[in-house]
Formats: sequence, C-alpha cells, structure tokens
Amino acid sequence: MTVLENVSLKEFNTFGVDAKASLFASVKNQLELQEVLKDPRFKNPFLIGGGSNLLFVNSISRPVIHINIGGIKIIDENDDSVIVSAGAGIKWHDLVLWALKNNYGGIENLALIPGNTGTAPIQNIGAYGVELKDVFYNLIAVSIDDCSTHIFDENDCEFGYRDSKFKNEWSHQYVITSVRLMLQKNNHFINTQYGAIEKTLIKKNISNPSIQDVADAVIEIRNNKLPNPKELGNSGSFLKNPIVSKEKTDKLLLEHPNLPHYEFTGNFYKISAGWLIEKSGLKGLREGNVGMHAQQALVLVNYGNATGKELWKFAQKVQQTVAQKFGITLDPEVNIIE
Ligand code: EPU
Repeated sequence: MTVLENVSLKEFNTFGVDAKASLFASVKNQLELQEVLKDPRFKNPFLIGGGSNLLFVNSISRPVIHINIGGIKIIDENDDSVIVSAGAGIKWHDLVLWALKNNYGGIENLALIPGNTGTAPIQNIGAYGVELKDVFYNLIAVSIDDCSTHIFDENDCEFGYRDSKFKNEWSHQYVITSVRLMLQKNNHFINTQYGAIEKTLIKKNISNPSIQDVADAVIEIRNNKLPNPKELGNSGSFLKNPIVSKEKTDKLLLEHPNLPHYEFTGNFYKISAGWLIEKSGLKGLREGNVGMHAQQALVLVNYGNATGKELWKFAQKVQQTVAQKFGITLDPEVNIIE
C-alpha cells in the first residue's frame, strides 16, 4: 500500500470532477485497510469506492482511503441457492455479469447500476422492482474507530428506500469490506412487473424470459435513458423520489391528474421526481457545463469540465424551482461532499 499526496480524484468519481485529495491511499485487502486506519495521518478518513454516488463540491482536506478490495467466491451452497461473497471493490455490474455467467438469479434487474459492491448496501441500491435487500445475506465491516471486524445481517442494516443504517446512525463508523448475497441456482424468480421491462420483452417477442433476457432488457432500457458516465459525467439519479403524504398527493392530483405516484407505506406516496423536474421545465436544460439530462430529468450531467461548485449550484436551482412550483423539496440521492 502506498500513500500519495495531492492526488486528483477526477478518475475516482463518475461526475469527473477534478477535486484534489491532500492524502490518498488505496487498499487491496482487509489487512491493508486495518493498517491504514491505524496510521495517525488517516484519522477521520473519507472513504471512496466506485465514486458513483458523490459530488465533490470542493477539494478534500480529509485523508482519502480508496477501497479496492477484490474477489468473488462461493461460501456456501445447496441444491437451490448459493451464498456469494464479493469484495467491496468489485464493480457492481461485474458481479451481475458473474452471476449471469453462472446462471445465478436475483440481481439481473440491477444490471448496469454504477458503483461498487461495497457501497451497494449503504444506499440499498434498487431498480426495476428489485432492491439489494431482496438478495442480501450479510456483510463484513471494519470499525474505523478500533479496526474490529463485524458481521451485519439484514436486520442490523435497517434497509429502506435508498437508505440503511450506514447512512444514519452508523455513518462514518464502518468500512464495508465484503458483501454476501443469496442467489438462486434454479427456479429463478423472474421479476418483470416494472412496465418498461415488460414492454421491452414484448418488443423482442420473449414470453418466457430467462435471467439473461431480463438483464438484457434492463441494459437496453438503461442505455437508452441514462448517460454513460465514461462519455458524460453523471451519477445516475441525482435527486430522490420524494415521499409525500396522501393528503398532499391528493391535492396535487386535483391540479395534475397525470402525476405519477406509487403507494409507499401507510399514508404516504412516492412521487416521480423526474416528472416534477420535467413539468418545471428543467428536463434537458443546460447552463454552460452542466444540465439535467434530456432523456431522464433526474440525472444531473457534467457536459465538460464542470466544477463541483457549478454542478451543486445548478442542482440547488432545480430544487428551488421544483419547490416553488409544487411545494415539494427534493433531497439529493447523491452524497454532497462540501
Ligand atoms: N418521469 C418523467 N420524466 C422524467 C423521468 C421520469 O415524467 O424525465 C416519470 C415518468 O412517469 C416515469 C416515472 O417518472 O414513468 C418513473 O421514471 P423511471 O422509470 O425512469 O424511474 P425513476 O423513478 O425516475 C428510479 C430510480 C432509478 C432506477 C429507476 C428504475 C430513484 C431516485 N431513481 O428512477 O435509479 O434506475 O427508478 O427502477 O429512485 C439511480 O439510483 O441512480 C437510478 C438511476
């Protein structure tokens, strides 16, 4: 493990923002991680995985630890299912491809989600009717404070919509080093409830889809709607779909009968932030180097060499415009590092 000074983080965040880290170390295994956590220079570290869910507004004064722990292995199996352990540094989509190659079902709907496996539980990644928690078995984490190792199961993690205990009570307390998932070897549960998948399969004349067919459909949908971060800096959905009371939803529906809304829990509805942004006239709007994507209004885009400040300022303008028009505050889905 080498410690570097004054490192550009441009390659380490999918927005492609050229923020600088004054101190930087990349770790390949748990031992290296524990070694760097004990180094007094790395007190109060900033952890970076795939860099796909953060916006550096400024340069980073905290020491940065890049989690680059690899390895995918089977740790247990029976006739029906398999428990797979993946290092936190494995690209999430590589894990999906590995599962498909072995015909293990459960994460095909989560194809092409940017980011690493280790960060997937933090925000309980989800797409097309499936969330990480649906296949989650447990994870291994190291305490930042005393380097102790812990195993946390689904109950411990308190998963919610783009949420977990790692974003709340456990924020900045642990480094996830590996994640274990329970996947199905046969009798795959094919989840095509999400309209866009069904439409894509019908278009391809597939009536009895395999997990590979579902993954191919998801990949096609995502490629059509979401910009590739290698071509246009972005971090997927920048804002969360707001959870709004039934009372407020009913009021909005009177004025906007087409408002896409989905039952959440109790008396609450999830409303499409993309729709709110689009109806506020911001879809596809570009100002200089930044804008909201033309195919999916939830995606904030770096068209060139935008700074973190420019991106954040534009996103705040979007928040304000939507708040003025609909009286709803859109919270960022992405971590804002100020
Ligand atoms: N919509 C619009 N205009 C837009 C975008 C969306 O009107 O520009 C409306 C449409 O009615 C559409 C509905 O919103 O039918 C839902 O849109 P979409 O299927 O694109 O889903 P989303 O709610 O915008 C969420 C996730 C995505 C995930 C998709 C598919 C969040 C914040 N985003 O987006 O996740 O891929 O569902 O499951 O929950 C990500 O987290 O980075 C991400 C891309």
